[in-house]
Amino acid sequence: MKLTDIAIFKQACLINGAWITAEESLPVNNPATGEEAGRVPLLSADQVNDAITSASEAWKTWKKVPASTRGDIVRKWYELIVKHTDELATIMTTEQGKPLAEAKGEIAYAASYVKWFAEEAMRIQGEILPAAAANTHIRVSRDPVGVCAAVTPWNFPAAMITRKVAPALAAGCTILVKPASQTPLTALALAELSVQAGVPDGVFQVLTGKASVIGDAFCTNPLVRKLTFTGSTEIGAQLMAQCAGDVKKLSLELGGNAPFIVFEDANIEKAVEGLLKAKFRNAGQTCISPNRVYVHNSVKDAFQTQLSEKVAALKIGNGLEEGTEIGPLIDSKGVDKVEEHVKQAVAAGAKVLTGGERLPFGDNWYAPTVLTGVPRDAQCACEETFGPLVPIISFDTEDEVLGYANDTPFGLAAYFYTDNLHRAQRVADAIESGMVGINTGVISAANAPFGGIKASGIGREGAHVGLEEYLEMKYQCYVIEE
Ligand code: SIN
Repeated sequence: MKLTDIAIFKQACLINGAWITAEESLPVNNPATGEEAGRVPLLSADQVNDAITSASEAWKTWKKVPASTRGDIVRKWYELIVKHTDELATIMTTEQGKPLAEAKGEIAYAASYVKWFAEEAMRIQGEILPAAAANTHIRVSRDPVGVCAAVTPWNFPAAMITRKVAPALAAGCTILVKPASQTPLTALALAELSVQAGVPDGVFQVLTGKASVIGDAFCTNPLVRKLTFTGSTEIGAQLMAQCAGDVKKLSLELGGNAPFIVFEDANIEKAVEGLLKAKFRNAGQTCISPNRVYVHNSVKDAFQTQLSEKVAALKIGNGLEEGTEIGPLIDSKGVDKVEEHVKQAVAAGAKVLTGGERLPFGDNWYAPTVLTGVPRDAQCACEETFGPLVPIISFDTEDEVLGYANDTPFGLAAYFYTDNLHRAQRVADAIESGMVGINTGVISAANAPFGGIKASGIGREGAHVGLEEYLEMKYQCYVIEE
């Protein structure tokens, strides 16, 4: 049976092992065509709270399942995701718009987290520590947090789910996911595969509906012990405040404003390639996408000429068409923001090297754009554009550009290119961000800790630390009589 037959056309959510519908449903639209791609239930607050109760019941059993068995089930999920790559990628492109080749890449990336955490399940370790008093023994165990809730974004409809769900399952937690309303179909398809993999009822559930209804229940139901969120800093801060009532554990992967610096001693060709990969992945709708590009005055002309030629040649179109490199933006609000950033920068003196306009394919399209001579305080250099815009700003000294790079409340990712080893170490140490790409635009990997500092978030996803986010430390003090 095809995945699309079993998951997508049921117009149902996976709650406690059953596909549940609701009185009303919500449309999911294809951003490339505007056509309806499917419908999902609009769950009521009672349905959401019932799902949380079932997650709490399921946890009582799941936490006792041996780590090796949990790992085997997660591994089976990984195998099914890989087996269904083509179908999952097609579903993703249809609801999200990214080119099919990129969607397949995202499925591989999403699956890599599942594989990683299937293996990490067996590496949950405790400690025995020396005690100060005689006959006393200090034992530290690491136990699953309990019921977790995840609110996930539309830009990576699969990977942002697997890198939360796989560690939760591996750690012995149960988890409920509220996928973005723009991209719930990929989430439901992943849930269907988890059932096929043997994830027990209530252990992983996907709930669709209004963010306010589901988010409120996640933040205020005391049975939920942890909230994990990927999205904007504004919403992250709201969720954090809502979770404060019963001091829930939090992981927040929030907005960024990544600098990309090209020093005078950089390999220009490689810097152009790195920027193209980092910037135009998902049409620039990526939290770690370079948002402001600082280029040393002495190499600026060479860099921007090579870059704008390559950007102008990018193939734009419906992601399902062969060879497409850039698809639509998720919605017209996304396009409005790019347009506003371009207009504001141009009014402040920037020059358009390529793009700089909407495309005549519908409301969700904007041309990949390169601007030069952008003022340092332009809107596009201070706020996350989340679209296909490269603003080039020139600089003369390392100290000057480090000042620019760190002059932001955000600290998710940063990139720089240099062939000078001393500078590489110095700048990597000085940059205030959770992740730094040195001579590369590709930094995401399941075995690396993904996350930010400052207003870009709390906690890390991926690597061995990604599992710790779903574990609590328990100190047990034994006094053994002789
Ligand atoms: C994101 O944009 O939030 C995630 C990007 C990634 O995992 O590479």
